[in-house]
Amino acid sequence: MGKVFVFDHPLIQHKLTYIRDKKTGTKEFRELVDEVASLMAFEITRDLPLEEVDVETPVCMAKSKVLSGKKLGIIPILRAGLGMVDGILKLIPAAKVGHIGLYRDPETLTPVEYYVKLPSDVEERDFIVVDPMLATGGSAVEAINSLKKRGAKNIKFMCLIAAPEGVEVVKKAHPDVDIYIAALDENLNDHGYIVPGLGDAGDRLYGTK
Ligand code: PRP
Ligand code: URA
Repeated sequence: MGKVFVFDHPLIQHKLTYIRDKKTGTKEFRELVDEVASLMAFEITRDLPLEEVDVETPVCMAKSKVLSGKKLGIIPILRAGLGMVDGILKLIPAAKVGHIGLYRDPETLTPVEYYVKLPSDVEERDFIVVDPMLATGGSAVEAINSLKKRGAKNIKFMCLIAAPEGVEVVKKAHPDVDIYIAALDENLNDHGYIVPGLGDAGDRLYGTK
């Protein structure tokens, strides 16, 4: 079964409080999502492989370590996932970025796919699918299905806020996928919104309604 990691670092929890606050405006919301995405990327990349190289310091030759060049792909689920991409790329600028466009049908809450563009070497890359919200889990499951259908084998899912119901749905559908969360909230309301959550992530990022 996939593991679930909750990154309850004080800096992440602090910033998340302001992300949740309905008084936080679009500009600040976007900046905070970007910062939390960077902090989460720092944790999620903990297991990246290293290799030893020689380096000449001003003092002497030394053995030191660099990333061994594992191929990574970041997959934001459009729209709201886009808000997390730059924060991750600040730490891993060599990652390629694919896009999966999904929206939730407002009546059925089921995801509708409208766009997919992935790096050409899908089978050779490890992927991190990113979306601020994991609510019913439908969008995450569908995005991961879409990636697997095209050959992806090693996938992680990273979000800011998750509902327990959604986490269970993703675990059941994709037991090989580890889930990384900044906060695990209480539940979903009748409209499929996370409680307490942050409202509609896409609307808050882009100032739409
Ligand atoms: C939101 C959010 C997730 C999805 C989560 O996107 O960004 O993609 O809902 O809900 P789920 O777990 O129940 O599928 P939305 O469909 O509102 O699209 P948007 O990002 O374009 O606003
Ligand atoms: N999508 C959002 O943007 N917010 C929620 O609470 C649930 C789904």
